[in-house]
Amino acid sequence: MKILKKSILADVSGLRIVRIDIFAPEIALKAQAGQFVVVMADEKGERIPLTIVDKDINTGSIQLIYQEAGFTTQILSRLKVGDSLYALVGPLGHPTEIKNYGKIILVGGGVGIAEILPVARALKQAGNQITTILGSRNKELLILEEELKNISDRIYIMTDDGSYGQKGFTTEMLKDLLSKDKYDLIYAVGPIPMMKMAAMVSKEYNTRTLVSLNALMVDATGMCGCCRVSVFGDVKFSCVDGPDFDASGVDWDELEKRNKVYSVQEKHICKLKL
Ligand code: FES
Repeated sequence: MKILKKSILADVSGLRIVRIDIFAPEIALKAQAGQFVVVMADEKGERIPLTIVDKDINTGSIQLIYQEAGFTTQILSRLKVGDSLYALVGPLGHPTEIKNYGKIILVGGGVGIAEILPVARALKQAGNQITTILGSRNKELLILEEELKNISDRIYIMTDDGSYGQKGFTTEMLKDLLSKDKYDLIYAVGPIPMMKMAAMVSKEYNTRTLVSLNALMVDATGMCGCCRVSVFGDVKFSCVDGPDFDASGVDWDELEKRNKVYSVQEKHICKLKL
């Protein structure tokens, strides 16, 4: 569980996106696209789920990417190369269903781009034609463009402020593409409002859409109920039933509310301890 490498992918006014390679040979052997690990940075830290972005069986390492978005990720960032995580569990969750669907659109927003990379690789290997839409607030916060360019047949970049690619949201480009051509699957990962909008747009064009949900987790083994989501009216747990779900069935408003439950405490702890 030692940190082998660490690099900063983006750093804009203190908003950093960090990549770490961790020595975890057993996880590297088994991990498949779409799966995640749960990380505890220190003994008293909370547990956070992070997608396995890449793995290297030869070095026995896995690669994780996270944005410093709160107290725990900032604690994680204090660890240096050579330090060890307190705990690491995985691979968890169902792998993304990989097969030859045909024509696929991948939509990645913000740090969600890291989550579509392993899925893009696997879907390309399965023979799919890949169109990728990446979105970020601005040019500096865009990550993994080269890696996804190499995998994709076509790629579109959207930035909120127009500093790179086209000005606008990923879902505007999604709507544009769907209005011109037929696609067999959409896979979208990013902020909840983005995934919710992707679900609405794809429903309009009757195209199946999968999303990887970033619900809050505690034990990540289906025991605590923290990651509960409603999908087609049924109660599901993101950790053991997901993280991929059919976007058209997700109760987005409920998920949005549940993910904000600790936002006040989070700000309070950050002020107290950092
Ligand atoms: Fe506890 Fe999923 S994190 S049930």
